[in-house]
Amino acid sequence: MREQVAIFLHIIGHNVKFRVIGSRYYRSIETIHRYFRVVLKAILKLYKLAIRLPDEPTPSEIRNNTRFYPYFKDCIGALDGTHFRASVPLSIKGRFRSRKYGTTQNVLAAITFNLKFFDVLAGWEGSAHDSCILSDALSRPRGLRILEGKYYLADAGYDIRNGCITLYRGV
Ligand SMILES: *[C@@H]1O[C@H](CO)[C@@H](O)[C@H](O)[C@H]1NC(C)=O
Repeated sequence: MREQVAIFLHIIGHNVKFRVIGSRYYRSIETIHRYFRVVLKAILKLYKLAIRLPDEPTPSEIRNNTRFYPYFKDCIGALDGTHFRASVPLSIKGRFRSRKYGTTQNVLAAITFNLKFFDVLAGWEGSAHDSCILSDALSRPRGLRILEGKYYLADAGYDIRNGCITLYRGV
């Protein structure tokens, strides 16, 4: 059990290939693969315990600041896409090629003002548009939830819609 957790942390902490980890821990790649999945599933089960909607109506970072309050009282955080290096089969590599960063996944993350991750959607191709990934996150049964009247701040890669306010261009 401990070994499985150690292997999992080693992989996600240092981005090490299963093959390399296998030789380090004297295990086959299949075993490493299985251990990784077991621990990943266990961690995902913690979601309900660890991740909660903030229970105050307005984040204190906004309420405490007269520059922001009351204008942004319904803002609950910020969201953006970020690119992670991806190793994918040659046949689908083109779709994962992003404009700036090589072969990547485009990962959407929503955070609160005290820098806690509220939602992450991984797996989209690096070439996918931010606003299209946000639509996907919002349409999934267990995807990103934004309460009626609340919204996130986002950059110009997103469009203004319910739940998301972007920059006013040129200002
Ligand atoms: C906002 O003010 C309250 C009450 O003074 C304080 O407890 C809280 O830590 C403050 N939050 C921030 C982010 O400054």
